[in-house]
Amino acid sequence: MIENNIKDVENLLNEARVEIEKIKNLKDLEEWRIKFLGRKSLLNELFSKIPNFEISDRKILGTKLNIAKKILNELYEKTKEKIEKIEKKYNLSFPGKIVKIGNLHPITKVIDEIVQIFYKLGFGVVEGPEIETDYYNFTALNTPEEHPARDIWDTFYLKKEEGILLRTHTSPVQIRVMEKYSPPLKIISPGKCFRRDAFDSSHSPVFHQVEGLMVDRNIKFTHLKGVLSYFIKEFFKKEVKILFLPSYFPFTEPSAEMSISCVICDGKGCSTCGYTGFLEILGCGMVHPNVFRIVGYDPDVFTGFAFGMGVERLAMLKYGIDDIRYFYLNDMKFLEQF
Ligand code: DAH
Repeated sequence: MIENNIKDVENLLNEARVEIEKIKNLKDLEEWRIKFLGRKSLLNELFSKIPNFEISDRKILGTKLNIAKKILNELYEKTKEKIEKIEKKYNLSFPGKIVKIGNLHPITKVIDEIVQIFYKLGFGVVEGPEIETDYYNFTALNTPEEHPARDIWDTFYLKKEEGILLRTHTSPVQIRVMEKYSPPLKIISPGKCFRRDAFDSSHSPVFHQVEGLMVDRNIKFTHLKGVLSYFIKEFFKKEVKILFLPSYFPFTEPSAEMSISCVICDGKGCSTCGYTGFLEILGCGMVHPNVFRIVGYDPDVFTGFAFGMGVERLAMLKYGIDDIRYFYLNDMKFLEQF
């Protein structure tokens, strides 16, 4: 009988030790104290049983219980002191700093979305350098030096004599890809472009484009129309009319500009579309045979289409933003909405 009670005391001590190890605050410590040292604790219950034992056993159990009580009290005091020290050093009840979780920039989001749509059509994604040579930015794109079309793009030169510049469009990536891979190929290339433009509501000296290129045997203008129509439908998630108008780019023949019915006024005419009902959103065309010759593709065997779209313009239309500068002024009130 007494042996069982002594065993109980030992078990109690073990349990108390294990539990107090895990305690990190005064509230939990108080619960521990009530459980092991409080009025209704097992220890107290055992104390109250003492008179039931024979005199000699009373002494043994009494001593055992007193030692246990002393150990528990010491454990309690020591732990209390330790926790109080920590709590004094760090005010644990102080509300934490609210960490603002950032979100992706709207331009990054729109690029991701564009990439996803073309990915579904099997287009791979490649990137090219922002610092380019005039060979890739112009010459290889059928725009040799002194070609009047170089004036279309107001260029930032880093070292004019060496022909080092900030790319004015993502088209040089077409050349880099075709130099490296043989047809068939199907890629898009998003990235930053730079032009010596004023910073106003519709121009920014830094902006983004997504370039597209598909080369294979028998690629026709209808493939270009099909791919871009699919893209527009997926991107704006509504029915829009598409218009291809003849245009000029040195690296495509024929060249076209693609317009869509104004997504702001649904083609009725508003200030965004200049009351025409249509918005021009990208340049495109069939890759010029000269471009193929430059990269070593046989233009009699392969044909292809290419396009380049302005990301800011697409983003502005999608979200109804009327000033491109919002994307670059880092105004939290604007950025937090995306
Ligand atoms: N690079 C042209 C620009 O920035 C856009 C463009 C037009 C890209 C026709 C193309 C293309 O790939 O085929 O104005």
